[in-house]
Amino acid sequence: MAARIYPSLLAADFAHLADDVARVEPVVDGLHVDVMDGHFVPNISFGLSVIEDLRPTTGLFFDTHLMMSNPGFFFPHFKAAGCDMVTVHIEVAPNPTVLAEKARAEGLKFGLTLNPPTPFEAVEPYLELVDNLLIMSVYPGFGGQSFVPEVLEKVERAREIIDSRGLPADIQIDGGITPETGRLARAAGAEIFVAGTAIFGRPDPVEAVAALRAALED
Ligand code: DX5
Ligand code: ZN
Repeated sequence: MAARIYPSLLAADFAHLADDVARVEPVVDGLHVDVMDGHFVPNISFGLSVIEDLRPTTGLFFDTHLMMSNPGFFFPHFKAAGCDMVTVHIEVAPNPTVLAEKARAEGLKFGLTLNPPTPFEAVEPYLELVDNLLIMSVYPGFGGQSFVPEVLEKVERAREIIDSRGLPADIQIDGGITPETGRLARAAGAEIFVAGTAIFGRPDPVEAVAALRAALED
């Protein structure tokens, strides 16, 4: 499957979100929306009202990465704000089956993610449930960190299992993605690439997307 690129809103200019998103909209495949609660991660990003206000300004798919405790409680609110998919952390999702049902009942797509130190075995039993398996390649909470290469093994393992079971789940990678690290993750089997600093942090985000896409399509 062709590689897809989702810029991370976290690296955009929060005073000009709609402008930043409009600029890249024609060249990207979705928007990665990082919600942080200051509890599961030691940082706070933005919440529902920001998503709600951004929604009518763009047609992009809203891929919402919930770095928060008790994510299920907020699914109806994320749906109402205009999100298309919610991805939750296995570290704070003791019962992914219930969460997947809850997301689907709201008409949301559902994803699971795991932090760099969390073993792949934590998500393996739930792969049938997900539209999106996000392998974190940094410790969540901040943009601009370096890619953790050890997670590539998890991408390979996920690719093997998803293919051998014929599952529809996409494999997404998030954190420290550049043309160089993106290429490594692509070779390991990832298909959705989240990049913040390497897109919105660049002087020309459109050119940055083209450079990333060229590296992924090599
Ligand atoms: C990290 C977030 C990432 C982050 C990526 O907690 O989940 O989505 O915005 O930023 P870069 O691409 O700068 O690592
Ligand atoms: Zn993210």
